Amino acid sequence: MKNLTIYNPVKIHFGAGEIENAGHLAKSLGKKAVIVTGKSSTKKTGLLDKVVKLLEKEGVKSVVYAGVTPNPKNTEVEEAAALAVKEGCDFVIGLGGGSAMDAAKGVAVVAGSGGKLWDYIGMPGKKAKDIGKSLPIILIPTLSATGSEGNPAAVFSNPVLNQKAAIYNPDKIFPAISIVDPDLTLSVPPKQTAEGIIDVVMHVLEEYLTGEIDCDMQDRFTEGIILTCMEQGVKAIKNPGDKHARAQIALSSTVALQGLPNSGRAGAWVVHPLEHAVTAFYDNIAHGAGIAAILPSYLKYLGEVKPDKVHQLADRLFDAPKDIKGELKTAFCIENIRKFITDIGLSDNFKDLDIGMENMEKFADKVIEVGGLPWKLDRERLIQIFKDAF
Ligand SMILES: [Fe+2]
Repeated sequence: MKNLTIYNPVKIHFGAGEIENAGHLAKSLGKKAVIVTGKSSTKKTGLLDKVVKLLEKEGVKSVVYAGVTPNPKNTEVEEAAALAVKEGCDFVIGLGGGSAMDAAKGVAVVAGSGGKLWDYIGMPGKKAKDIGKSLPIILIPTLSATGSEGNPAAVFSNPVLNQKAAIYNPDKIFPAISIVDPDLTLSVPPKQTAEGIIDVVMHVLEEYLTGEIDCDMQDRFTEGIILTCMEQGVKAIKNPGDKHARAQIALSSTVALQGLPNSGRAGAWVVHPLEHAVTAFYDNIAHGAGIAAILPSYLKYLGEVKPDKVHQLADRLFDAPKDIKGELKTAFCIENIRKFITDIGLSDNFKDLDIGMENMEKFADKVIEVGGLPWKLDRERLIQIFKDAF
């Protein structure tokens, strides 16, 4: 295990009904907020109005930017930041799913430090500009998925460059406060619930599969999160009003990327960068849907080059029969992962997502262009993983 630093300054208020505290929590951060949210769902459910009123009640003013789309765009972040500056907002509230929350982090940076969002994103041959000041952030998730509410990362899309890339900055974009009220997720439809669940699983699985092997506690923690998502996920899909299931999934989502489960591993994130290359071209495909399509094929690849953790997963999560070993154990693990993916109503391949085979080289080249793969995967291997996902 690597030495590790645990640092997470987010004040997380978790539990049913916590949304009622939004006003007085906001008051502790400033006088006027820009509320960054999506185009429709927080309006439809009445949550946006409710938050505005809760702020008003505590004397906190607000302006709303309701233009964030899935895979939030650099232009949306810049528009919201311009609004925040024009209106003299001194903090940002991200209200919604991962896209709204990540967009809020981008708004905090661009409103605080100026310039364009892509200035702050580094990639091979392009150094990221240092973030000077960023505005304080409150995040209120309405979907259990990205875990953005507990970490200092945000992912953005740039449709002009066909790039999807991240900012990770523990000094500048940790939310100050996150209000995680699992009741806000009760209205999420089954498909989005499932896409969120596979995303949470992948957030702990990435480093589990590739990191240091002697992380016993982190492994158990990770397996606990995955098992919880599997058990409670199926329940929440069957019965969206299951408050217990929703709460357990919400807590898993927040904790997954909060630091501890992945600490000391120094593992590689692979499925995420591969998925980002796919959705850089297919904006209509949700992050979780892309992950579900790529994961089985990636496990097949790992089974060839680094099978230990794939086999551990087969033993501990799926109770593999004692007499199967090697390739058979890998196949058993993949079969069970596929079952889980399809049980929650997702597709385990590109074909079902209407992604044609002709894209595979383009995807591989995009992964290399954007970079961020800390593990050696050459172009041919990347193409093969993409092809096997077909
Ligand atoms: Fe993710």
